[in-house]
Amino acid sequence: MGSIVMPEALSKDESEITFTALTPHIGSLVKGIDASKPVPPAVMARLRRELADRSVLVLRDQALTPAQHIALSREFGPLEKHVLSDFCLPGHPEIFVVSNIIEDGRHIGAHGGSKRYHSDLSYLPEPSLGSLFYCLECPEEGGETAFASMFAAFDALPEARKTWLAARNGVHDYVWNYERAHSKNRAPLTEEQKAKTPPVLHPAVRTHPENGRPALFISEIFTRTFDGENEAESQALVREIMEFATQPAFVYEHEWRPRDLIIWDNRSAVHKAMPFDEENTRRRMHRTTITGDRPFFDG
Ligand SMILES: [Fe+2]
Repeated sequence: MGSIVMPEALSKDESEITFTALTPHIGSLVKGIDASKPVPPAVMARLRRELADRSVLVLRDQALTPAQHIALSREFGPLEKHVLSDFCLPGHPEIFVVSNIIEDGRHIGAHGGSKRYHSDLSYLPEPSLGSLFYCLECPEEGGETAFASMFAAFDALPEARKTWLAARNGVHDYVWNYERAHSKNRAPLTEEQKAKTPPVLHPAVRTHPENGRPALFISEIFTRTFDGENEAESQALVREIMEFATQPAFVYEHEWRPRDLIIWDNRSAVHKAMPFDEENTRRRMHRTTITGDRPFFDG
């Protein structure tokens, strides 16, 4: 007599999960995982390894409640509660709402992310490890998210540039960027706010703590200078290096569909938001943010 397999015994194991490269250097499409259910430890270990190596994981057709989204996110580490509490999901402060939708006269979420390449919260001493970004509604066109591999970018730099960068720190300066970017559209920062976000130094090349690979760690938004260099020369270098680093060969551009879940690693990828028709279409996304460690370089 054959044994009856109860549904709970049919949990996915590692062998049923597939990873398909989305581009040569960055991004894996993950199949065989239902992210709404608890993920077994062996599968989590495999996901973490793939995230470390490929920087971006894409899971399609996921039906996630906020609680399930948070539960999976916590498997990657402790979560941030965003300072803009107005845009956190009621009852779920770990979920930050990104949306252009207005309800009852107010925005239900923050506007989309920056249109310039960055690594989230790089202006903090301990920038975030990564995010889990889930799509509820999106326009048919536009609103993509572009990711660039900072592993591939570093590997492809000329040796002399690698050596120069490996010996440098970048100064990431939130206040400097705020004053140049938002002087016309937002209230000035108070002295108290400024004191909370002093400039921080991070290595311009960081070692990924899980696989030991070197990755560029430069932000188009927040890297003000290379320590010891003047600002004009530093800015010219930031532009030149990031133009090289974000060339199409190192980029994965994700075209969103509702119920897509993307997990990205801020330690080895930069990202930016692409524009869309904000007047006539709706975009509604939920994001969790995993806390990170202090960047280091041990080359
Ligand atoms: Fe971002």
